[in-house]
Amino acid sequence: MLKIAVCVSGGGTNLQALIDGVQNGLITNTRIVRVISNNRNAYALERAKQAGVDAVCVSPRDYDDRGQFNQALLKAVDEAEPDLIVLAGFLVVVPPELIRKYENRIVNIHPSLIPSFCGTGYYGLKVHEAALARGVKVTGATVHFVDEGTDTGPIIMQKPVAVQEGDTPETLQRRVMEEAEWVILPESIHLIANGRVQVTDGHVKISG
Ligand code: GAR
Repeated sequence: MLKIAVCVSGGGTNLQALIDGVQNGLITNTRIVRVISNNRNAYALERAKQAGVDAVCVSPRDYDDRGQFNQALLKAVDEAEPDLIVLAGFLVVVPPELIRKYENRIVNIHPSLIPSFCGTGYYGLKVHEAALARGVKVTGATVHFVDEGTDTGPIIMQKPVAVQEGDTPETLQRRVMEEAEWVILPESIHLIANGRVQVTDGHVKISG
């Protein structure tokens, strides 16, 4: 059984896709052991409670400096003893000590086709604003392992989504979520939970 801890910051629709996936059997061999939010007002915390999942808030506001916050975050993760950490809309710079400790055991969902529209400053709606500003015809989402760079780790899955005439950042964000994020995040977790994802030399191979 793969025990996952899910880190969130906002609405938590990707968390909901994971909760639903575990409940309806799309994701097998997996248990969500804890949800961690940096934002105490995140609706994601409410979603976790409604699903009966342990939910905690670790807010930088409660600590004097970044170092103390990072330690508290690490503790909140360690306590849950997860096999895998899922960043599902977690808009916080992940502490390097967490990345080192959980090498190839942290996955992130990013709302573009990496390496487009990713890296520092590209998160949430900003990603879709940039895609529309560039005039791309296709965007999408990427699930990848987290390394010490920003959005640079091994890619697990990607799914393209068409940009439509008249799209706003909000309509594009919604379509990318519905058509890509809520599909490839649960699917990636299912594959990992069933031992089908291998990382070799920075590249992911999916077997079976
Ligand atoms: C999602 O679109 C996710 O891909 C994005 O934040 C949103 C969270 O929505 N993450 C990033 O931009 C990370 N760089 P949610 O809280 O409804 O899942």
